[in-house]
Amino acid sequence: MILVAGGTGFVGGAIVSELCKRGKKVAVLTRDPGRHKERFPNLNVALLKGDVRDPATLAGAMPGVEAVIGCQQFPNSPMEDRARRYTFEDIDAKGTENLVRAATLAGSVKRYVYLSGAGASPDADRHWFRMKWRAETAVRDSGFAFTIFRPSWVYGPEDRALNRFLRISRFLPFVPLIGNPGEQRLQPVFVEDVARAVAEALEKKAADGQTFEIGGPEVLTMSQVVRTALDVAGRKRALLPAPREVVKAAASLLRFVPGRPLTPDGVDFITMDALADGRQVEKKLGVRMTPLKEALAGYLGQRA
Ligand SMILES: NC(=O)c1ccc[n+]([C@@H]2O[C@H](COP(=O)([O-])OP(=O)(O)OC[C@H]3O[C@@H](n4cnc5c(N)ncnc54)[C@H](OP(=O)(O)O)[C@@H]3O)[C@@H](O)[C@H]2O)c1
Repeated sequence: MILVAGGTGFVGGAIVSELCKRGKKVAVLTRDPGRHKERFPNLNVALLKGDVRDPATLAGAMPGVEAVIGCQQFPNSPMEDRARRYTFEDIDAKGTENLVRAATLAGSVKRYVYLSGAGASPDADRHWFRMKWRAETAVRDSGFAFTIFRPSWVYGPEDRALNRFLRISRFLPFVPLIGNPGEQRLQPVFVEDVARAVAEALEKKAADGQTFEIGGPEVLTMSQVVRTALDVAGRKRALLPAPREVVKAAASLLRFVPGRPLTPDGVDFITMDALADGRQVEKKLGVRMTPLKEALAGYLGQRA
């Protein structure tokens, strides 16, 4: 059995679907199986209760598990909430350390695939990259066969970023953006390509012990990405960027609002470049990186 931690989420959900399509036996680790019982209506997926912040809850999800896929992320990421332990340290770093420990104790686990992030490094300026590195280190030192993926900016039918812009464009004549969207560089990667790469990593020897960046085939600015999505959706809208420092000042107040719509660190996170070279995944795992317009035409076309 393959256990997907975070399998109810955006990337994890796509991985679960891809694995089921390939006939694998899949279980999902979730904090609340009841809330997600309609998540996979047409798939035979076991929902197992566990919280990566609480090691005692993880043992019960491990019996019979041969491979773990780690793609848990705290709610409302990247807006951290220390009081609730919704932080990169609690969920990415410690959460992965706890999962690796529980998998080791289980005795049946042979393989671990971890969804890190492009930019993970031990001495990065930003703590989210250092926490991703700490999680990677736990996986590399685990003794399991492992593969680590570092995605850039993932989009797809259930994403929260690009879909938010498209939603806003339904009722506003403009799309608000932050910072310098004409200069912010992204290599957007289609979620189904990430899911295929993860599924291939479970099957291909070439993935053993590898750390792969995974990004789409084009380097685009944020403005180009949003314009492409608007074009495919058949809408003409102006892009209206707000200065980053002004939004950060607003975020220093908004972080106290229930639901924490924005935090200053969150503003830095969402205005970063997100570049990752997907060519090694194409070469070694045989997964083609889909161009943005082609992927959007697929799912936005279906929606229309
Ligand atoms: N999305 C991107 O653009 C992107 C880019 C680079 C890297 N990544 C990486 O890809 C992974 C998945 O990201 P995503 O965007 O799919 O995240 P997501 O949609 O927010 O899903 C994350 C899942 O993690 C689970 N989770 C949250 N707290 C948990 C806890 N304490 N214990 C166990 N599970 C917990 C949640 O499941 P329940 O609510 O069911 O518990 C949630 O469905 C992350 O590691 C992220 O860093 C994503």
